Amino acid sequence: MVDKDDSITSKEMQGQTEEQMELTLRPQTLDQYLGQKRVKKEMAVYIKAAKKRDEALDHVLLYGPPGLGKTTLAFVIAHELGVNLKSTSGPAIEKAGDLVALLSDLDPGDVLFIDEIHRLSKPIEEVLYSAMEDYYVDIMIGEGETTHAVHVPLPPFTLIGATTLAGQLSAPLRDRFGIVEHMQYYTIDELEQIILRSSDVFNTSIAPEAAHELARRSRGTPRVANRLLKRVRDFAEVKGEKTISFETTTHALKQLQVDDEGLDQTDRKLLKTMIEGYGGGPVGIRTLAANIGEDIETIESLYEPYLLQNGFILLTPRGRMVTNKTYEQLGLPIPNED
Ligand SMILES: Nc1ncnc2c1ncn2[C@@H]1O[C@H](COP(=O)(O)OP(=O)(O)OP(=O)(O)O)[C@@H](O)[C@H]1O
Ligand SMILES: [Mg+2]
Repeated sequence: MVDKDDSITSKEMQGQTEEQMELTLRPQTLDQYLGQKRVKKEMAVYIKAAKKRDEALDHVLLYGPPGLGKTTLAFVIAHELGVNLKSTSGPAIEKAGDLVALLSDLDPGDVLFIDEIHRLSKPIEEVLYSAMEDYYVDIMIGEGETTHAVHVPLPPFTLIGATTLAGQLSAPLRDRFGIVEHMQYYTIDELEQIILRSSDVFNTSIAPEAAHELARRSRGTPRVANRLLKRVRDFAEVKGEKTISFETTTHALKQLQVDDEGLDQTDRKLLKTMIEGYGGGPVGIRTLAANIGEDIETIESLYEPYLLQNGFILLTPRGRMVTNKTYEQLGLPIPNED
């Protein structure tokens, strides 16, 4: 169920941009935040303890594939703490001064959210170390002979960092996070709940078997589930359907080229390239990226984890390889083992 102030009429909805819809879809509280049970349970304890002690929550690192709710969770945490959240991203902080300005503007206990934290530059990262550990920064001011260090004390704060590529985070930075949470792909049941909540927010209804089918094909990812729901809803709208049916759902997914395992065009292109160009592998990530015209980071954070988890590819020391399941899924003959 959705909170009163969260629900809007479809009239209001029509005037909204996709971005605004995205915001209304975002859960605000831990209760509304579905799935990620382990992460939620742990965070609930840490939040409660920090509030009880009237201290800033320890720094939190959230990592996992795109669209699993890292940004959403950061806002939920700030909301539950009853503090403000300032949001920025690794590439957006160019100079140490930018970071110091952000930090000194915080009220005690506030959250600074840094998205794509693995993309912080080294000098900025070094400024963060003392800020995270002891709530101060030393910055250099002036030029040439007049250069001198200024010691800037900071309010106690919580840094929440999010990353899709935890492996790219330096060890000293990673070690300064007291709380590290690995976000997992959602189960079909959890995605089904998210789809039902979202259709509530959109003021549309969806048949239970349609919601289930959408959930099954959403790559374990709420962002994908919400995106597919919006498109399926368009097909139902045009058909004049009051309740989104199973038939419309499967028809729309076919049009969107999402297959019965939730693989999309890029997933299939990647797998096909491995098979047709490299005999099923092993093939290196650079070669693959160049072949399908995606950057390495996107393949590593978005495509590969899902394909790995679902047994479509294997990682070997010499590169990625497809599995028999992949040949079956693509309707290709499985090559002889010898
Ligand atoms: N636990 C959840 N319950 C309900 N909806 C969720 C949940 N997690 C995410 N969503 C929905 O999925 C969308 C994507 O989530 P979000 O932007 O937080 O992902 P992200 O992990 O930060 O992705 P990226 O790595 O690309 O920044 C949100 O707009 C929200 O509507
Ligand atoms: Mg995000």
